[in-house]
Amino acid sequence: MTVTLRPAGLEDTDQLVQLETECFGVEAWTVAMIEDEITGPYRAYLVAQAPDGTVLGYGGVFMGLDSAEIMTLAVATAARGQGLGRQLLDALIAEARQAGILQVMLEVAVDLEPAIGLYLSAGFENVGLRRNYYQPSGRDAHVMRLALTADPAVPR
Ligand SMILES: CC(C)(COP(=O)(O)OP(=O)(O)OC[C@H]1O[C@@H](n2cnc3c(N)ncnc32)[C@H](O)[C@@H]1OP(=O)(O)O)[C@@H](O)C(=O)NCCC(=O)NCCS
Repeated sequence: MTVTLRPAGLEDTDQLVQLETECFGVEAWTVAMIEDEITGPYRAYLVAQAPDGTVLGYGGVFMGLDSAEIMTLAVATAARGQGLGRQLLDALIAEARQAGILQVMLEVAVDLEPAIGLYLSAGFENVGLRRNYYQPSGRDAHVMRLALTADPAVPR
């Protein structure tokens, strides 16, 4: 299947709410949180869209001054295992690199093994643990970091 990556917009909100609920259950972002995030400054949110317009996945990155943060990443259950998560993550990292940022951080719940596998395979390292980070579950979060090398071919 051909999937297109494109910037997320408010027209995607309904599909993103469904995706959030499917992927994160009671810890899903609310409509207001989704809308604030996809329209907020210093952020890049991308959706992976099927040819029929269905949003199969999405992810976002917040760009700080010298550090970026992966805010979320989710792929619909039926579309997993086909490389979409990696495509989205690579595109978010590319956004950070293009902004001249040299490190990408993220938090991931300690029981999300597919996500941890994806981040490790993308070069992220485990650099810390945040106790009781997610609510209401109380799950702990790994803190992970990817160091980017400056690419002289990319304008800073
Ligand atoms: C994490 C998630 C986005 C991965 O999406 P995906 O499209 O299935 O991932 P991909 O097919 O691109 O897989 C890329 C890599 O992730 C890792 N991975 C994927 N599924 C995995 C699994 N079940 N177990 C371990 N590693 C896995 C592998 O390293 C894989 O590379 P490989 O195919 O070369 O082995 C998806 O499982 C998801 O949405 N999970 C629920 C939400 C979530 O946990 N989000 C992260 C919040 S921080």
